Amino acid sequence: MEKVFVSQHPLIAHKLGILRDKNTEHQKFRELVKEIAGLLAYEVTADLLTEPVQVETPLAVTSCVVLKEKVGLVPILRAGLGMVEGFWGFIPSAEVWHIGIYRDEHTLKPVEYYNKLPTEPTVSVCLILDPMLATGGSASATVDVLKRWGVKKIKFVGLIGAPEGIAQLHKKHPEVPIHLASVDVRLNDIGYILPGLGDAGDRQFGTA
Ligand code: PRP
Ligand code: URA
Repeated sequence: MEKVFVSQHPLIAHKLGILRDKNTEHQKFRELVKEIAGLLAYEVTADLLTEPVQVETPLAVTSCVVLKEKVGLVPILRAGLGMVEGFWGFIPSAEVWHIGIYRDEHTLKPVEYYNKLPTEPTVSVCLILDPMLATGGSASATVDVLKRWGVKKIKFVGLIGAPEGIAQLHKKHPEVPIHLASVDVRLNDIGYILPGLGDAGDRQFGTA
């Protein structure tokens, strides 16, 4: 599907296998989420715009570039939090704007509970971070929030996507690129991704 980018990087595939394993403990799980996010950050930011600057080396003045765009990382609470450090390692100047959304376990609809965005946008590019794209409700609602905020360039970055969630996000926001480490098979009857990795929030925070 156009605008859907699934990483082919062997390191990401290797780490994702360990992440999925039900025997992987919370601390290791958190490390892996951070590491995979960092590897995805490298791919996701490949089209960031730069502008020229002059830099003085110890020997001469030379032409270099700096990032032109102001990047906002937008983790969806809770599970998206674990991806922030991976991205921040590469883009330390990024602002982090948290959006609190949980999925009602009966209706599977997104419920917004935290949003402290100021009136005017302070960034030009937003990277939404959430490990799981299941029905696509939480991701679509977050894009709605960011569009209302006035951000023009938005990308979604996840670890695992279900075909149902990818289709839903793409249908609601066709211009938003979707970056994933894997596209899985389908949702089960309670909206969990198969084979997936279980509950990404609980596995990070030890709350299962
Ligand atoms: C999980 C996950 C996504 C959402 C995906 O969050 O981190 O935000 O579900 O499901 P969807 O695509 O069907 O909306 P959850 O609601 O479990 O909250 P948590 O991160 O606080 O555990
Ligand atoms: N949220 C999760 O954490 N895991 C899933 O499989 C679906 C939604």
